[in-house]
Amino acid sequence: MTATSKTRADRAARVIERCRQIAACTEVPGETTRLFLSPPARRVHALLTEWMQAASMSVRIDAAGNLRGVLPGPTAHAPRLVLGSHLDTVPNAGAFDGILGVVLGIAVAEEVRGQSLPFSIEVIGFSEEEGVRFSTPFLGSLAVIGKLDAETLARADRNGVTIAEAIRIFGLNLSELPNAALAAGSFAYLELHIEQGPLLESEGLPLGIVEAIAGQTRMTFVFEGRANHAGTTPMHLRRDALAAAAQWITEVEAYANEHTGLVATVGKIEAQPGAGNVVVARVTASLDVRHPNDDARTAAVRALVSAAELAAAKRGVKLATQTHLEQSAVPMDPHLTRLLESAAKKAQTPARRMPSGAGHDAMIVAQRLPAAMLFLRSPGGISHHPDEAVLPGDVEAALNTAIEFLSLLRDDTTIPRDDHA
Ligand code: GLV
Ligand code: MN
Ligand code: MN
Repeated sequence: MTATSKTRADRAARVIERCRQIAACTEVPGETTRLFLSPPARRVHALLTEWMQAASMSVRIDAAGNLRGVLPGPTAHAPRLVLGSHLDTVPNAGAFDGILGVVLGIAVAEEVRGQSLPFSIEVIGFSEEEGVRFSTPFLGSLAVIGKLDAETLARADRNGVTIAEAIRIFGLNLSELPNAALAAGSFAYLELHIEQGPLLESEGLPLGIVEAIAGQTRMTFVFEGRANHAGTTPMHLRRDALAAAAQWITEVEAYANEHTGLVATVGKIEAQPGAGNVVVARVTASLDVRHPNDDARTAAVRALVSAAELAAAKRGVKLATQTHLEQSAVPMDPHLTRLLESAAKKAQTPARRMPSGAGHDAMIVAQRLPAAMLFLRSPGGISHHPDEAVLPGDVEAALNTAIEFLSLLRDDTTIPRDDHA
């Protein structure tokens, strides 16, 4: 395809600049924290809209807050290639997780507009993937596959605001949720994302081609003990919820250390009433468990629930658990994965196949569309941290590879054609 390497290098530099500009859209000054449909999401929508429109895309925001830009195909019913990733962040995040894939998607559209591709291109900025605000991830991608259901919409954040209310407060109309579904002619999904781990860097490779995304379980554990005076309550008469949770947390770490391929994380913990001279009455803790093998993951979850029950029972503490997500491991589409590998070769970029430990919108969209993912090396293997970075040359390599991928798709005999043309 056309465009000089100089132009591509400039585009790559601009992709990085744009990601940094979006990182300044934050709920917390001085850091990047942008949860689902928080006020700065409006500025993100506005910036992306401006860039999409400048790339000749028509733009809309669907009822789940996903920002969607379409570069039209040759006819109204042309098949559609979908590119996407997410707009939300973890607390105190870096500038590239998620948004890089959206901004790169726009760069791809800019490069190919005017070329006679037989398909339209939709770039989706998913409103929510991280699961921070509602302890439930993938809200944006669930909406586009028609699975943002009533039970999920009723989940509340820590202030008691439900997902449905958050959508209304943002000014969106839930009755339009069915229109968030992927267009009928959509035939493939490609997500570009930072690796968020050390593998590519350790092998000196700029890009990775994802073969499968590890499954994950996300839960909340509530340990319910009894508050009492820290000075007068003898140790054997306490029902200390935090002591129970603390024992359990070390057991979570030990279990994961003993089981190859398993990662298990307690990333959030709250103790109430939260005073130095009061025995803790109640602890709420998160659990995130991942493994490429679903049986190993579910066995781990069973073992970790039993460990929590024992740690609680030993102290007269009650335990309640709630499961927010049970997501199986998801293979990427073998044909698209091969095309992506060929595209990297055509772009003269070394790349390796690899699994993804992180979750991605691709694992949800894959329920509806053949999906593929391209990883960019993460310097220092750092992510979910303000030091998260990308190398300009890697962004250029990803852009080159994505453009070659589109050119391979153009010539691919397996993609659907427009029957109305
Ligand atoms: C998404 O960032 C995840 O938690 O894997
Ligand atoms: Mn991400
Ligand atoms: Mn993330």
